[in-house]
Amino acid sequence: MQVFIVPTPEAVAEKAADKFIETAKEHAPFFVMGVATGSSPVALYQAIARRAKAGEVDLRHASAFALDEYVGLPEGHPESYHAVIDRTVTKVLDLDPQLVHVPNGFATDLKQAARDYEAAISAAGGIDCQIVGIGANGHIGFNEPFSSLASRTRDKTLMPGTRADNARFFDNDIEQVPSECLTQGLGTIMDAKQVLMVAQGENKAEAIKNMIEGPVCSRCPASILQYHPNVVVVIDEAAASKIENIELIRYTE
Ligand code: GLP
Repeated sequence: MQVFIVPTPEAVAEKAADKFIETAKEHAPFFVMGVATGSSPVALYQAIARRAKAGEVDLRHASAFALDEYVGLPEGHPESYHAVIDRTVTKVLDLDPQLVHVPNGFATDLKQAARDYEAAISAAGGIDCQIVGIGANGHIGFNEPFSSLASRTRDKTLMPGTRADNARFFDNDIEQVPSECLTQGLGTIMDAKQVLMVAQGENKAEAIKNMIEGPVCSRCPASILQYHPNVVVVIDEAAASKIENIELIRYTE
């Protein structure tokens, strides 16, 4: 695991963009990216977009797979991850919308939708670089604590803490936050050739510490990434503030 600790949230976006672009170039032109919702990667998408416009990377033939989607929102809801990905990724990176995939949380048969999603990722040749954030409880995608470490895309129930964290997108009303979702599994995420995590701020510090220094254990789902051979973590000082062995863990190039 390469753990880059940088001074500010802005520096997180720039450093992560460097690493993303390196990987995108290796897999050009048919680069397959995995994308995440949440506030953590928003500045990263903007940094990549600026650099794509400057000609550093060409994403015209790139495809994208989102990590997850709520279940229970009406289609077209502005906080559905279909809408969020369209706003923060597809439009910002000027991707071909036909090549951007989000799990179908609107499907009547969620088990079939989950199988279809896995099949679509396989048909694309797998994900070259999966961008992820981390939940305050250590979740990645919507793989909440005690998810199977080998899980595949499936429907899941969200924990009250995660719904409370996401209430800010729903008029601060937890009742409006769906309690079900469809998410790539931890096994699905582990199949990505590279995982690129970004995290900022003190409220992620405990989860980051557990992911990097804790036991590999479903209590902190992100800790499964300790078994992945190509993980790049880019965090600011605040998110790194609870790491105990910081000088052993800090990665520099
Ligand atoms: C959300 C998403 C995750 C995201 C996480 C953190 O619920 N499903 O993909 O990484 O929680 O969100 P944020 O970046 O807003 O803190």
